Amino acid sequence: MSGPLIELVSVSLHYQAGDEIVPVLNEINLKINAGEFVAIVGASGSGKTTLLNIIGCLARPSTGTYRLNGSSLLEADRETLARLRREYFGFVFQRYNLLPHLSATENVEVPAVYAGSPILRRRCRAQELLTSLGLDHRAEHRPNQLSGGQQQRVSIARALMNGGKVLLGDEPTGALDSTSAREVIGTFKSLHRQGHTVILVTHDEKWPSMPIE
Ligand SMILES: Nc1ncnc2c1ncn2[C@@H]1O[C@H](COP(=O)(O)OP(=O)(O)O)[C@@H](O)[C@H]1O
Ligand SMILES: [Mg+2]
Repeated sequence: MSGPLIELVSVSLHYQAGDEIVPVLNEINLKINAGEFVAIVGASGSGKTTLLNIIGCLARPSTGTYRLNGSSLLEADRETLARLRREYFGFVFQRYNLLPHLSATENVEVPAVYAGSPILRRRCRAQELLTSLGLDHRAEHRPNQLSGGQQQRVSIARALMNGGKVLLGDEPTGALDSTSAREVIGTFKSLHRQGHTVILVTHDEKWPSMPIE
């Protein structure tokens, strides 16, 4: 087995807000192997979203090194980061971030549109993903015609559209009732068993030990 899939070495990040420098991440060291299920827990404002954005190549560290699959991203240009983002990561957000005027199927297709996949192939894949997540009967519904739990499963299908080797969830159960939250965690667990690496962040300390089966 080779090295870790994700490796942060002494990663720090600060934001510049006017004249003020806001330190957020301070010398983070982190290794995540392919196939792991990781929960990152921290208080609101502690930098979880910032950390997830760095892991998912949406933000760069101010200092320190990020190695993805053994390669340092220090010198990577924007196009390279965008390609790696598509190739490795699927994002799931607390508020689903679905486009309101598109059907469930069309929402799931969005990442493949950016990847340049032909329409028939991407439609077919979107429908397969929705079916695998128990949503085939909701494929033509718009987000406002779906429950919170259903919308989150649509967004998980969207995260899987380009493969979603690594699924990044930013408080993915934060807007859900406890039953839907369990279902969504159950979905992540099942995807983990299928081989996906899963990294979830939450501010809820009870949450990683939440019974899900
Ligand atoms: N674009 C930004 N500019 C300045 N400060 C920011 C910005 N984004 C986040 N912050 C600050 O960074 C800290 C960490 O934010 P965040 O990563 O969103 O934390 P969490 O997800 O754990 O709640 C917070 O204090 C927040 O106010
Ligand atoms: Mg956050």
